[in-house]
Amino acid sequence: MIDAAGDVVAAATTSLSLETPQPGWTEQHPDRWWEACLASTRRVLERQSASRIGAVGISGQMHSSVFLDRAGAVIRPALLWSDGRTTAECREITRRAGGEERLREWVSNPALEGFTLPKVLWLRQHEPAAFGRLVTVLLPKDFVRFRLTGTLAAEPSDASGTLMFDPARRRWSRDIMQAVDLPMSLLPDVGESSAVLGQVTPEAAAASGLVAGTPVVGGGADNACGAAGVGAIASGDAVVSWGTSGTVLAPTAEPRVDPGLRVHTFCHVAPGMWYLMGVVLSAGGAFAWYRDHLARVGREGEGTGEDERLTEEAAGVPAGAAGVTFLPYLQGERTPHRDAAIRGAFLGLSLAHTRAHLTRAVLEGVAFALRDSLAILQAQGLSPAALVATGGGARSPFIRQLLTDVFGVPVTTVNREEGPAYGAALLAAVGAGAFADLGVAVSRTLRRAPLQHPDARAHAEYERLYARFQASYPASRPP
Ligand code: XUL
Repeated sequence: MIDAAGDVVAAATTSLSLETPQPGWTEQHPDRWWEACLASTRRVLERQSASRIGAVGISGQMHSSVFLDRAGAVIRPALLWSDGRTTAECREITRRAGGEERLREWVSNPALEGFTLPKVLWLRQHEPAAFGRLVTVLLPKDFVRFRLTGTLAAEPSDASGTLMFDPARRRWSRDIMQAVDLPMSLLPDVGESSAVLGQVTPEAAAASGLVAGTPVVGGGADNACGAAGVGAIASGDAVVSWGTSGTVLAPTAEPRVDPGLRVHTFCHVAPGMWYLMGVVLSAGGAFAWYRDHLARVGREGEGTGEDERLTEEAAGVPAGAAGVTFLPYLQGERTPHRDAAIRGAFLGLSLAHTRAHLTRAVLEGVAFALRDSLAILQAQGLSPAALVATGGGARSPFIRQLLTDVFGVPVTTVNREEGPAYGAALLAAVGAGAFADLGVAVSRTLRRAPLQHPDARAHAEYERLYARFQASYPASRPP
C-alpha cells in the first residue's frame, strides 16, 4: 500500500509452496494464490482504512496457465512458467505455424515450454476431459483480478508471454489461434496496464476487507512491473532481477526481436514500450533448493537470516570456489540454451571442498547464467551504462558486487524494495489519477542509489571463470 507521495504505508507477504509432481514439472493451484492475496490484503488493511484506497494494482508470475470452466471455476492446478513438460507441444506449434519465422512474424517469440499456449495444447492432448470443460484461459494475476472483480480481462505485458498475443501489434493473434485450432473465445479482452478494468465485488470485499466498487487496474507481468517498480521504463535503462527466476531486461521503443530468438520480446507496462529479456529459470530458486536440501544451517522457515549466513560463508572463500562450478539448470534453461531437458550440476568437487565452496559456486553459477543473458542484449546494441538490481538477491551487498564484477558493468538499486508490487502500486496510482502517467509516477517516487562499480581485478578473474562455466555446459545434457 502506497500513499499519494509513493511512500510505502504497509506491505505484507504470504508464502506459497510449489508442487513438483515429476522432475521438470511445476504446478500451483490458483485458489492458493487467491487465499494468499486475501491474507496479505487483510494484513495491509490493518494499517489504513480501506475507504481511503483509490485503486488496486496487480502483478504476478508470467505464463502460468489458469484453466477456467463456464462457471469460472478452476479446472486443474496451473502449469507454471518453470514447467518443462510441453516440448512435444512446442514442436507441434512450430510445425502447425509453418516454422519459427512465422512465429516471429505473428507473436515475436519462439514456442518455449514455459509459455501458456503449449500448456493449453498439453491439456488437449493429455487431459481431454478437462480440456472439454475449458472455456477461458487466464494468467495468474488476471485470475486474481477476476476473483476480485468478476471481470475477465488481460493486459499487454502479461498477454505477451502467452504465445497467443502479438506484442508488436498489441493484440491477440488470430493467426496462431487458427494454426493450432483453438477458438479466440478462450481469450479475455485486453485493456491497458494502468486502466481500470473492473471494480471489487461485494463478495470479494467481504473476503478481503476492501470496499466494494474499489477500482482495479490492469497491472502487469512480474518482470514488467518489477522494471516499472525500479523506474526502468525507457530505452537505455536495464534491470537485473534475482528472484526465484533471474532475468536481465532492457526496455526498447520498438518491438525488436533477437535474431537467434534466445531472449523474449514482450510489451512493457509503459504504453508504447517493449522490452527484450533473457530468463534464467532457476536463480533464487536454485539457491533455495540448495539451502533446503543440501545446506540447511538453521531451522526450516528461518528464511533470509539463513540465506545471509550461507552467503557470508561463501564470501569467505575466493572467487571460483576453488574449482567448483555449478550449472543452475534445475528446470532446464530458457536463455541462452532454449532447452527444457538440460539439468543442473556441481562439477569439480574434491575432498578439500566445504559447504562454503558449494554455496559460492551456486551464487557464481547464477551470476554467470545472468551474464549469458546480458551478453545477448549487449550483442543487440543494448549496452546499458548500469543495471538496476532488484528481487530478493539484490538485497545482498555480496550478490550485487558479484553481479557487477561478473558483468563488468556498474549496478545500482532504488529507494524501494517491493519490486513488482511497487510497480503494480504505481500503475494503480496512475489509474486512480494520482499521477498523470507512469513516467510522472516513476520520476516523483523513485531515486537511484550511487553506482556500485566492478573491481577491475575481480572482473578479469571472473572473465576466466565465465569461460570455465561456459565450457562446463555439456555436463548439463542428459546422458
Ligand atoms: C519470465 C518468467 C519468469 C516468471 C517468474 O519469462 O518466466 O521470470 O515471470 O515469475
